[in-house]
Amino acid sequence: EKGGYEHFMLKEILEQPKAVRDTISPRIQNGEVVLDGVELDADYLHGLDKIYVIACGSSYHVGVAAKYILEKLLRKPVEVALASEFRYCDPIVSSRTLALVISQSGETIDTLAALREARRRGARVLSVVNVVGSTIARESDEVLYTWAGPEIAVATTKAYSTQLALVDLIALYAARQMGTIPEAEYAAAVAALEGLPELLEKVLEQREQIQYLASLYFNHPSVFFIGRNLDYAVGLEGSLKLKEISYLHSEAYAAGELKHGTISLIENGTLVVALAGYAPLFEKTMSNVVEVKSRGADVLGLTMEGFEKPMSEAVNHTLTVPAAHPMLLPSLEVVPMQLFAYYVALMHGCDIDKPRNLAKSVTVE
Ligand code: F6R
Repeated sequence: EKGGYEHFMLKEILEQPKAVRDTISPRIQNGEVVLDGVELDADYLHGLDKIYVIACGSSYHVGVAAKYILEKLLRKPVEVALASEFRYCDPIVSSRTLALVISQSGETIDTLAALREARRRGARVLSVVNVVGSTIARESDEVLYTWAGPEIAVATTKAYSTQLALVDLIALYAARQMGTIPEAEYAAAVAALEGLPELLEKVLEQREQIQYLASLYFNHPSVFFIGRNLDYAVGLEGSLKLKEISYLHSEAYAAGELKHGTISLIENGTLVVALAGYAPLFEKTMSNVVEVKSRGADVLGLTMEGFEKPMSEAVNHTLTVPAAHPMLLPSLEVVPMQLFAYYVALMHGCDIDKPRNLAKSVTVE
């Protein structure tokens, strides 16, 4: 059932091109995004006061990326909330609030309770769910399914990737409705999204190189993931993947925030994973790389093709993802992060598919 692989997690990492294709392709017809009959018309979208993205864990990390993507395209305020916090913060929600609830299982209790609270306060709830007929799917005003198929490994991979792809579709659909994206840009982004599965295949070809890097770095006692903007969103997920399955201590930081405290933790032998694929901020993140390097950190860099030369001059090792539309950056960058976590955990002999203390679906508060 593991299809010849040692772990479900690896099998599911490798299934991502198909999962993403299954999620995207039925929703692009003649170059237009269609959302399974979900209608968000221009007047409704223009009238929104806020989009509230609500989720837990990795789904929350998709929400962090969604904030950057949606705000850039729609010019509407997007707030990302941890479901367990949303419930208790007397959230500012009205009938002009769209709640975008993201959950792989559709059963996470905090997310479900937040959904109920959002609806009680008058929000329209659109959910992104992987499990058909789950409670969150049933209780939402509308649901869009990620077609990742069953995910067995506790640490999410393909469900996360399909959530991101669906966020891209929602963002493009809404921007098209609102007229906030020029026609040519829309067409280019839709075409880019259609090409995502193939690009994911290319990233997966780096498996052996990533395994080699994991063999160099697996013994580092402490790891920091740094990045800005979409790179920061991926850093959050890369850090969670690593810590949950390898039990190494790791943290994700917005690169510019390091010098406000965390940099005191950087010493000889600390591993810093520097994500700098977001072209407009490449130089900014690289200046933070220089800071950690000069304090003795070993730096594993990840960037987009075209930037590998300047990056490799500053870091110990460089990984790249194919040059692509910036919207696809998190989808591409997360894959080397998943593989790195997987191979580090493998080196440590961890129980990868069933990490200690964790459950696939969190139905207690
Ligand atoms: C991490 C992971 C968890 C889930 C979180 C929310 O690999 O899988 O952080 O993302 O428990 O679960 P769902 O998406 O089912 O609501």
